[in-house]
Amino acid sequence: MNQSVGAYTNEQAAVRLRDIRQQWVQRGHGLCAVELNSTGEAIGRSGLNWWETFGETEIGWTFVRAHWGNGYATEAARAVLAWGFGALGLGQITAMIHHGNTASTTVARRLGFTPLREDSVLGRPCTVYALSSDDFAASEGRTPL
Ligand SMILES: CC(C)(COP(=O)(O)OP(=O)(O)OC[C@H]1O[C@@H](n2cnc3c(N)ncnc32)[C@H](O)[C@@H]1OP(=O)(O)O)[C@@H](O)C(=O)NCCC(=O)NCCS
Repeated sequence: MNQSVGAYTNEQAAVRLRDIRQQWVQRGHGLCAVELNSTGEAIGRSGLNWWETFGETEIGWTFVRAHWGNGYATEAARAVLAWGFGALGLGQITAMIHHGNTASTTVARRLGFTPLREDSVLGRPCTVYALSSDDFAASEGRTPL
């Protein structure tokens, strides 16, 4: 099974877009569109999302199904993590993954995320994974940021 995220209604999408814009203004980060270098086609989004409820900054990744399995989520996430731990100076970034989302779990583990706790997000159980700045630097073969 690969339990994925669901679709938004137009109203939910409008609220989500407003929240993303607000985060860019208030915190200097948010979600980014991901485009193919070769064609400029928009194939997904990835970025950082502050959760007031948890007091945590989470990385997100969502791609158009036709482009799954090419390593794009992993590539985009590496760039987001370098930005979050580098320019933004974050100490830890989480990834909240609903149970059964195998592809997302594979991406998180490949990037060095490890389980932090069991929790619930948007009314469904999830595992909260976390990665520290130091562990990211070590996995990338760099000195701590
Ligand atoms: C999760 C998601 C972003 C991954 O995108 P992607 O570009 O395909 O990711 P990558 O290619 O970098 O890596 C995916 C890995 O998961 C593996 N995978 C994909 N589906 C899988 C499945 N059903 N079972 C096991 N492994 C799976 C792939 O084989 C790949 O691993 P590999 O490179 O070792 O073969 C994409 O599936 C997606 O957009 N899903 C819907 C949105 C979503 O669930 N977002 C995450 C919310 S937490």
